[in-house]
Amino acid sequence: ESSCDDTSAAVIRDGVMLSNVIASQAVHEAFGGVVPELASRAHQQNIIPVVSEALKRAGIDKSELSALAFTRGPGLMGSLLVGTSFAKGFVTALDIPLIDVNHLQAHVMAHFIKESDDDHNQPSFPFICLLVSGGNSQIIRVNSYKDMEVIGQTIDDAAGEAFDKCAKVMDLGYPGGPVVDRFAKERNPKAFTLNKPHIPEYNYSFSGLKTSFLYLLRDRIKEDPDFIEKNKQDLCASLQFTIVDILMDKLRKAVKDTGITEVAVAGGVSANSGVRSAFEDHARRYGWKIHLPKFSFTTDNAAMVAITGYYK
Ligand code: KG4
Repeated sequence: ESSCDDTSAAVIRDGVMLSNVIASQAVHEAFGGVVPELASRAHQQNIIPVVSEALKRAGIDKSELSALAFTRGPGLMGSLLVGTSFAKGFVTALDIPLIDVNHLQAHVMAHFIKESDDDHNQPSFPFICLLVSGGNSQIIRVNSYKDMEVIGQTIDDAAGEAFDKCAKVMDLGYPGGPVVDRFAKERNPKAFTLNKPHIPEYNYSFSGLKTSFLYLLRDRIKEDPDFIEKNKQDLCASLQFTIVDILMDKLRKAVKDTGITEVAVAGGVSANSGVRSAFEDHARRYGWKIHLPKFSFTTDNAAMVAITGYYK
């Protein structure tokens, strides 16, 4: 996996994960976002040590591999090129099959990673999956391992991007999503009212929310230059509450219209505590059977790519 700013390699055997090594790139922190050229160069530095470490932790030699799966896209062009070139060279040398994997499908398939032989918590088909990451927000009807239908998606920004950009204007660092989550805990989610979009069907939009957040800060800072510092927690709580509310509104509609009450969430934003408690609340109130991924499988990782390749 090398689609964005994490270099990751995993080994699975018969659907069971033996190792999953992730090297994150701290180089982007100073810039408040991922710098594509720096990401590609960091992948180039990391990829061989990460693959070696994944094999070592799995306790196998590369000659024992029977196939290799890699992320073909979507993602940053330079980052993908590093992973793709490495994968092609590797399979050519070992004379094993190469399996291309769609990154978004892999996020959904993270629910099928087994950590042991007796791990049987996987969703059953069909189920609805909310995929929320830094680059995407989609509602997917998952009919089988290979048949996934996108029934709704963002028409502009992704939920993760809304978290990150709003955190950036508050100067909370990058990625801002986890920081907002931390500040939001136990504060007033109704302290500030932010814009919610009116978009048809199961689609999302987060650009209006970002603008309304920016204008709120701009207006209040005029009255009090320390407004952000004094209200950081309430701002984060209100932002998180609104994003989760937007996500759940459309998801509820999709579940109601399709009649499918088995519901999963995937992608980086599925680590968010507000998203998780909203899912638990919906399970109680509407009888949904929910699937929340383990934290280590929410953000980009190679185990999800390996499991997708395995079923492919
Ligand atoms: O899936 P991912 O690792 O990368 C993409 O493929 O986009 O998702 C990264 C996104 C970032 O926007 C990050 O801020 C967000 O996931 N994220 C969170 C949390 N943890 C990660 N957003 C809100 N709350 C969190 N706890």
